[in-house]
Amino acid sequence: MRQFLSLEGRTAIVTGAARGIGKAIAETLAARGAKVAVVDLRMDLAEETASEITAASGIEAIALEADVSNRESVNAMIKSAVEKLGKIDILVNNAGITRDGLIMRMKEADWDMVLDINLKGAFNCSQALARPMMKQRYGRIINISSVSGVTGQAGQTNYSSSKAGLIGFTKALAKEVGSRGITVNAVAPGFIETVLTHDLPEEIREMSMKLTPMGRFGTPQDIANAVAFLAAEESSFITGVTLQVDGGMVM
Ligand SMILES: NC(=O)c1ccc[n+]([C@@H]2O[C@H](COP(=O)([O-])OP(=O)(O)OC[C@H]3O[C@@H](n4cnc5c(N)ncnc54)[C@H](O)[C@@H]3O)[C@@H](O)[C@H]2O)c1
Repeated sequence: MRQFLSLEGRTAIVTGAARGIGKAIAETLAARGAKVAVVDLRMDLAEETASEITAASGIEAIALEADVSNRESVNAMIKSAVEKLGKIDILVNNAGITRDGLIMRMKEADWDMVLDINLKGAFNCSQALARPMMKQRYGRIINISSVSGVTGQAGQTNYSSSKAGLIGFTKALAKEVGSRGITVNAVAPGFIETVLTHDLPEEIREMSMKLTPMGRFGTPQDIANAVAFLAAEESSFITGVTLQVDGGMVM
C-alpha cells in the first residue's frame, strides 16, 4: 500500500538547495521518495549535498548550477533537469538573499538584487515549468516567503517587498493553473537558524525569541516538513495559501 504523503515516482527541483533550508527540503523530499535536483549558484556545495542525499536515501539526486535571477541560466537548468530526471512534478522556489539597510542608506543595487533573486527568480522558474506541468496536468509549486513579507520588517524594505510579492504571486498563479491539477502555495518561515540569520544582532535574536510562543527558533527541518506536506498528492485541495511556520511569532 502507498504510504501516506509518499512522494515515490515524483521528481522535484529545489532552488538554493546547496545549504540551509533548501538543503533540508531536498533531503526531506528525497526521504519521501522523490528524485531531486539540487539547484544553486554554489556548485561545490550543491554537489556535496546531492551526494549526501543519494547516500542517505538511495534516491537519485543531481546538482545543477543556475542563477535563478537569470532567465537563460534558469531555462538551461530546467532543460537539463527534464533531460536527466524525465519530468518535473514539484518546484520549490527557495533561493533567497538579504541585503538589509534602512531606506535612507539602501543602495539601488541592493534593492534590485534582492527583488531579482527572491521574486523574479520564482517567476523565472515557475514560467519555465508552467507549460510542462500543465501538459502533464499535475504540479506542485511551493514558494518560500517569510513572515517579514507578512508584517514588514524595518531595515528590510527590499526583502519584505520581495517576500510579500511572493505571496501575491502565489495567489495569482494558483488561480491561473488550478484547473490543470497544479497547486501553488507559499511557506512563510519565522526565525530559522541558518547562515542567513547567523550574523543578526543579539537584540534582534532576543526580541524574536520573546515574540515566539513556542519558545525556540525554528530549524530548517521545520520548514522542510511543511513543504513535504504541500508537495504531496494528499494536499491537492490546498492552493493559494501561505502557511506560516514560525512557532506562532506572527498571528
Ligand atoms: N533563515 C531564516 O530565518 C529565514 C526566514 C524566512 C525566510 N527564509 C527564506 O528561506 C530561504 C532559504 O534561506 P536560508 O536561511 O536557507 O539561506 P542560505 O543563505 O543558508 O541559503 C540560500 C541558498 O540560496 C543560494 N542562492 C543565493 N542566490 C542564488 C541565486 N541567484 N540562484 C541560485 N541560488 C542562489 C545560496 O547559494 C544558498 O545556498 C530564502 O528564500 C530565505 O529568504 C529564511
